[in-house]
Amino acid sequence: MFRSHTCGELRDSHINKEVTLSGWVQKSRDKGFMIWIDLRDRYGITQLIFDEERTPKAMMEQAQKLGREFVIQVNGTVIERASKNPNLPTGDIEILVSELIVLNEALLPPFTIEDQTDGGEELRMKYRYLDIRRNPVKNNLIFRHKVTQHVRNYLSNEGFIEVETPYLIKSTPEGARDFVVPSRMNEGQFYALPQSPQTFKQLLMIGGMDKYFQIVKCFRDEDLRADRQPEFTQIDCEMAFVEQDDILNAFEGLTRHLLKEINNIEISEFPRMTYDEAMQRYGNDKPDIRFGMEFGELNAFSQHKDFNVFNQAELVVGIAVPGGNSYSRKEIDKLTDWVKRPQVGALGMVYCRCNDDGTYKSSVDKFYNQDDLAKWAEATKAKTGDLICVLSGEKNKVRAQLSALRMELAERLGLRKPNEFAPLWVVDFPLLDWDEETERYHAMHHPFTSPKPGQIELLKTNPGEVKANAYDLVLNGNEIGGGSIRIHDKATQALMFDYLGFTPEEAKAQFGFLMDAFQYGAPPHGGLAFGLDRLVAILGGQETIRDFIAFPKNNSGRDVMIDAPAPIDDAQLKELGLKLDLK
Ligand code: AMO
Repeated sequence: MFRSHTCGELRDSHINKEVTLSGWVQKSRDKGFMIWIDLRDRYGITQLIFDEERTPKAMMEQAQKLGREFVIQVNGTVIERASKNPNLPTGDIEILVSELIVLNEALLPPFTIEDQTDGGEELRMKYRYLDIRRNPVKNNLIFRHKVTQHVRNYLSNEGFIEVETPYLIKSTPEGARDFVVPSRMNEGQFYALPQSPQTFKQLLMIGGMDKYFQIVKCFRDEDLRADRQPEFTQIDCEMAFVEQDDILNAFEGLTRHLLKEINNIEISEFPRMTYDEAMQRYGNDKPDIRFGMEFGELNAFSQHKDFNVFNQAELVVGIAVPGGNSYSRKEIDKLTDWVKRPQVGALGMVYCRCNDDGTYKSSVDKFYNQDDLAKWAEATKAKTGDLICVLSGEKNKVRAQLSALRMELAERLGLRKPNEFAPLWVVDFPLLDWDEETERYHAMHHPFTSPKPGQIELLKTNPGEVKANAYDLVLNGNEIGGGSIRIHDKATQALMFDYLGFTPEEAKAQFGFLMDAFQYGAPPHGGLAFGLDRLVAILGGQETIRDFIAFPKNNSGRDVMIDAPAPIDDAQLKELGLKLDLK
C-alpha cells in the first residue's frame, strides 16, 4: 500500500495515528540535527520531520540526500507541531518518519515548482508535466473538470443525448482553414479534421435524436491569440422543432446554472441586443457591458463647422473616459499614440476635457464653441471630470478603433472586474460578410444558417443587408458561444450555396450528402456551440485559454514538449503517396 492518507488530509484529530504517505519532495530544510521535508501530492502538503534523537542515523543520512521532486513513500506517526503553520490546512501536525522509501529520484527541475515560479512561458510549456504540479495550473484543470461535469449533468437532465461524431471527415467550412489527414488506403485523398461537428449534428436531427450535445475537440488552422488554439473544445448542441427563442432560453438556462454553481452568482439581467445595436453602442459584436463608456455619435454636432477632418468623415464618434480630465497633456498624447499604432490604425484623436467648473476645453477649440462641446458631452454621457475621446473616419473602421480604445481604457481603469459577470445575447447577425481579400460574400456564421423569414428575396438585391437567425453568447466582452437556426430544405440550401459562389456541381460534391438528407424529412432545427476553453477561462476570471488546457500549443501552433509538428520519414510519405516539394 503506497498510502493510507493523502498529503492534504491529516489534522490534529489524527495525532498519534500511524500513517503512510506518498508524494513529491517540495522542499527540505536541513538544520543538521533536524530535517523538515514538505511532502506534496495533488491534495496538499504535509510536513515530515526527522530528528537526531528519534530518527536512526542511517535514515537521517538518507533524508539528507533527498532532492527536490524526489518521489518518496514514508511511514510514520502523526504528531503535534512545535510551531504551527496557520497558512496550511495540515499546519497543526507533522509526521515523525519511521520508514523512508525512495520510489524514484528526480533531476533538479528547470524551474521552481511553486505558485510563483521563476520559469518562463516557453520553458514551462516544454516541461508541462512539471508545470501541472504547480497549484495554479493544477487548480485550473480541476476547475475545468468541475465546469465540464456541471455541463454534462445539466444537459443530460434537460434531455440532451451525448453522441460522438467522427474526427476524420470532409471539410466543413467555418471560416478557418482545415487541418488535413492523408489517407493511405485512398491514395491522393484526404480527410479533414472537423472545424466543428456542424453537418453531423444536423444529420443527427434528421436522424430524430431531437436534442444532442457533445463535448468535442475541434480543429482550426487559423492565426492564434490568447483566446484561440488550433485544437479547442466545444460544447456542441443541436435541437429539433425549435425556434430561436427556444434555443436562447435553453442555453440561457445552462449559463445561469453554471454561474450559480461555479461562481455563486445569480444573474438577474440577461439582455438581448441586435448586432446593429451592439455595433452602434459599443463598436463591437461582443461588447463588454459590465461598464458604460458607450459610444456617442457626434456627426450632428461636429459636421457644421470648418473642421474638415470631421466634415469628411462617415462617422464621428466619442466615448467619455470616467475621471479622464485628470490626465496630463502627456498622458493624452500617449493615448493618441496608442490609437495610432498600426494594430489600432486611427489617424488621430480629438479630445475634450470636462472641467470641474462645467466648462469644456477641447483640442479643437478653434472650431467648436462651448455649446457644441456641451452636446458632445450629452451624446457621450460625459460628466464633469471626464475626458471625451473622439475618433472619426469610415464607419466600420472607426467603430473598431474606438472599441479597442474603450476596452484598453476600461482595462487600465480596472473596470473589467474578473469576478463580475454580464452575459448577453447578440442576435440578428448579418447573413453574409463582405471579404475584401477575395471580393466575395462569405457566410458570416456558416452556410447552413437560415436567413430571417422573408429576407431571401433581399439576397438578390442587397445581400449585405440580409439578417440571419444567428446569435452569439457574449460574456464579459468575449464570444463564448454562437449558433443559428438552420436551413432545412434543399432548395434554400442550394440557393445559399449559389449566393456564396458555389456552382451546383461544387455544392453537390461538397454537401450533396446534407442536401440529400434534407429530402428525407428534415425537421426544423437549430443549435449552438460554446467554446469550452473560453467559458472555463472566463468563469475562472481569466482570458487566456492556454492556462486551462493541459497540453496547449504555443503561438506558432507548436507543442514544444513533444516537438510537433515534425517531419515524417520518406517511407511514411511514400506509403501515403505523398511527395514533398519544399522550395
Ligand atoms: P463558432 O465558429 O462560432 O460556431 O464556434 C463556437 C465557439 O467556439 C469557440 N471557438 C474557439 N475557441 C478556442 N479556439 C478557437 N480557435 C476557437 N474557435 C471558436 C468560440 C465560439 O463562440 N458550428 C458552429 C456552432 C453552431 O452553429 O451551432 C460553430 O462552430 O467560443
